[in-house]
Amino acid sequence: MTLLIKTNNICKKYNSNINQFQLKPTSISFEKGKIYIIKGRSGSGKSTLLNIIGGIDRPTSGTVFFNNESFYDLSDNKQSEIRNKNFGFVFQSFNLIPELTAKDNISLPKHFNKNININDNKINRIAEELGIKHLLNSKPFQLSGGEQQRIAIARALITTPEIIFADEPTGNLDNLNSQNVAKLLIDLVSNRNVTLILVTHEENLIKHQHTKFFMHDGELKLEEGEDDA
Ligand SMILES: Nc1ncnc2c1ncn2[C@@H]1O[C@H](COP(=O)(O)OP(=O)(O)OP(=O)(O)O)[C@@H](O)[C@H]1O
Ligand SMILES: [Mg+2]
Repeated sequence: MTLLIKTNNICKKYNSNINQFQLKPTSISFEKGKIYIIKGRSGSGKSTLLNIIGGIDRPTSGTVFFNNESFYDLSDNKQSEIRNKNFGFVFQSFNLIPELTAKDNISLPKHFNKNININDNKINRIAEELGIKHLLNSKPFQLSGGEQQRIAIARALITTPEIIFADEPTGNLDNLNSQNVAKLLIDLVSNRNVTLILVTHEENLIKHQHTKFFMHDGELKLEEGEDDA
């Protein structure tokens, strides 16, 4: 077991008079190559938590350790280097650049970090795995939701990250597409020994070996079950 990310009492309080939401002190560990599922009602704080762990949003208090270093105490440059190189993100709304072809969207991480090695070989290989090789020259508006999300998954994996953060990646897809895309994502990260933190409601994709959390009013709880890990 290799520890990848650990949070120590992270809390979040938004500066808002109307919004009383608080992420309650949360301490969790994420190990290399494991899959974590987070469920919970809308507004319960799932994205808030994911964004803090993913290095996108600083907690109000508490610490996030990535490879034993306090992430938010690193310089801004170092933080974005880690986000670009070691983390991958998949969002509900795909977040592809409309003007770029699928292939250029997949190559995008290179734009932010010249040291990242992305070549045609690598793109073709991952496109093949995701069944999108014939779509590489298409632009997002020419693609279905399921196809766009598979492009976004390719973009997240192309940098060979250590961890993927996926926030309801199938939330905008119909049932069948949703099943296919989520299964692809889970299979791909499993094959690569990549850690996955997945916010989803797709019950039938959740397997007993995954670690399941439930978020309720800003409080994260481990779901007891047939977890044999
Ligand atoms: N930047 C922000 N400023 C103020 N309040 C925010 C901000 N982001 C989120 N919130 C509030 O924090 C609470 C939790 O939001 P969050 O997006 O984490 O929920 P969620 O569980 O991801 O919901 P959903 O399932 O709808 O995506 C909500 O009440 C939301 O309005
Ligand atoms: Mg959310």
